[in-house]
Amino acid sequence: EKITISVIKADIGGWPGHSRVHPQLVETAEEVLAKAQEEGTIIDFYVATCGDDLQLIMTHKKGVDSSEIHGLAWRTFEEATKVAKELGLYGAGQDLLKDAFSGNVRGMGPGVAEMEITLRKSEPIVTFHMDKTEPGAFNLPIFRMFADPFNTAGLVIDPNMHMGFRFEVWDIKEHKRVILNTPEEIYDLLALIGAKSRYVIKRVFPKEGHKIAKDEPVAVISTEKLYEIAGEYVGKDDPVAIVRAQSGLPALGEVLEPFAFPHLVSGWMRGSHNGPIMPVPMHQANPTRFDGPPRVVALGWQISPEGKLVGPVDLFDDPAFDGARQKAVEIAEYMRRHGPFEPHRLPMEDMEYTTLPGVLEKLKDRFEPVE
Ligand code: F6R
Ligand code: MG
Ligand code: MG
Repeated sequence: EKITISVIKADIGGWPGHSRVHPQLVETAEEVLAKAQEEGTIIDFYVATCGDDLQLIMTHKKGVDSSEIHGLAWRTFEEATKVAKELGLYGAGQDLLKDAFSGNVRGMGPGVAEMEITLRKSEPIVTFHMDKTEPGAFNLPIFRMFADPFNTAGLVIDPNMHMGFRFEVWDIKEHKRVILNTPEEIYDLLALIGAKSRYVIKRVFPKEGHKIAKDEPVAVISTEKLYEIAGEYVGKDDPVAIVRAQSGLPALGEVLEPFAFPHLVSGWMRGSHNGPIMPVPMHQANPTRFDGPPRVVALGWQISPEGKLVGPVDLFDDPAFDGARQKAVEIAEYMRRHGPFEPHRLPMEDMEYTTLPGVLEKLKDRFEPVE
């Protein structure tokens, strides 16, 4: 029998500004989900936070894209929005872009990562939660987990994963997707996903011959782009991901290893700057400096045979990641010195959906031809 793990998140108000989630929003979400658990809609849940994003982690048997589960998430965000409005929190309800729920939260503002899986004898998973960045921020770490032998020793020395994996990549501008096999097509894959604002890894699958069935995802990432829904900048698309680990998949430590390098991602202040992503425990996921730098939280879980979430273990709450945090602070300082200059500020194409065009509009008539 299959279990579905759904991570559905939204920014429905910050405290203060865009920095963190107020504890009363977490309590409200817990109340709504506890009731749904009592009624049997979901098996288990946990409400996490990362920066100003409220994160609903749920297990159930309704499959992916279930209108019942998405409706529950939407209702939870609506209830928490009421509290956010009472408290006067900043941007209350900002990610609920539509007035009424219409069967699926995709395209309505919240971010979604879900996978329906056949539980293995033991099922270790990690949920990742990022704030102040976009879905493409997962390209580099997911590639390294499942395709880079310098990150994942198992790709070389474990016969159960030596055959490699399949990557589903979405072109989020053209709304198309392609599946690429690794290691054979690593260069093709990198040609796409290096352009992380356009091509994003949506899912990773095993190959034929793996212990896990070929059509069951082993990793899934949220790819919602808010500006595509709202038509303008309404906050970044702070993504989430679910990754299964161990036993023919990257070991827990191979899943976390890419984050020892705080790579540059776009987002940060006004969703308009490149900066390092800092791996932090949940209690440190409260962006402050220049509304950042961007953060990533990793929560570790075992799924029990009945589908209970045994956890979370706050995986970056570990001095082994102090070096990455320190490096992120140094890179943040270096990038900040560029002020409004690229490549700290994003290139022009990526500024199209921000507030910059409004500024440029004013100058339009003052341009004159040059000989
Ligand atoms: C980044 C983010 C913040 C805001 C910034 C300005 O994703 O949400 O950096 O863009 O604080 O916010 P407003 O325009 O609401 O004052
Ligand atoms: Mg916000
Ligand atoms: Mg956010």
